Amino acid sequence: MQLDEHLKILGVNDALHAVVMSCAQGVFDIANVVHTGEILGYAGTQNVFGESQLKLDVVSNDLLIAELKKLPSIHMIASEELDDEQELHADGDFSVAFDPLDGSSLVDVNFAVGTIIAIYPKGSFIGKKASEMRAAVVAVYGPRTTLFVAVAGKGTHQYLLTSGGFELQKEKMKVDDEGRYFAPGNLRACAKNPQYKALVDYWLANQYTLRYSGGMVPDMNHILVKGRGVFTYPGYSDEPNGKLRLLYECGTMSFLMIEAGGAASDGAMSLLDKPLEHLDQRSPIFVGSKKEVEKALEFFIMG
Ligand code: AHG
Ligand code: MN
Ligand code: MN
Repeated sequence: MQLDEHLKILGVNDALHAVVMSCAQGVFDIANVVHTGEILGYAGTQNVFGESQLKLDVVSNDLLIAELKKLPSIHMIASEELDDEQELHADGDFSVAFDPLDGSSLVDVNFAVGTIIAIYPKGSFIGKKASEMRAAVVAVYGPRTTLFVAVAGKGTHQYLLTSGGFELQKEKMKVDDEGRYFAPGNLRACAKNPQYKALVDYWLANQYTLRYSGGMVPDMNHILVKGRGVFTYPGYSDEPNGKLRLLYECGTMSFLMIEAGGAASDGAMSLLDKPLEHLDQRSPIFVGSKKEVEKALEFFIMG
């Protein structure tokens, strides 16, 4: 069954349906440039986070914006690769925030990378919480291109990009409450964060299986497809909020996981309830199987 038809069966209204399909078209266009590999190397520019931009970061960003511009229902957009949020259509009903290419540092080594898109009600992103999200669209560009679509209250579903379009692969994905896969981001922090060191030692002592690539999207994809595990990217003294962005990465991936029955926290609160203070806000993240997140947080009791 095609994405288009499945969204209708889920009861997604026409307006949101059109936005999800526009994002899927953007992913289709990005998948094409990622897999042809003609666009490599650096663009010679930096994003607002001070990160050097790949040509692929910029091209992916342009491709997604080109699709969204076609929809009068899009009010605001924000991107990891743009300096600020932008208004597309004053009367639009949806605001869309995205990381057009997640895993830039993995492009040259041909690891899997992704695209992360959040669809919110209209208005500025400042003050919004991931719990207000209407839908999330997340792509995994690996040997195959797969797509997650999570719709508020309607679960997380996976589609495979085939010659005929996005075919439904797994409906209403479910993440078990526990499971011993761990994806420990920012392991460097163990040198200055004894709580993280103790958590990693716990995982090793209990023979958890390491599944970590350095790409948030493929690493979270592993938890969703296997149905269990935990992903962490904590902060430490120098970077108390870690590296991952609340708007472009943490909020959206948390929404995806929670719609699949998982949990997500910044160490003190659910990542769905954390209001955005500024566009480049970073946040620690502990996300995945409920009991695995709870166990991880035991080592990070604040205070
Ligand atoms: P991006 O390529 O969009 O900047 O995101 C990369 C992120 C995320 O995908 C991954 O979990 C994290 O960076 C890895 O960070 P380290 O390089 O510090 O391990
Ligand atoms: Mn990213
Ligand atoms: Mn990125």
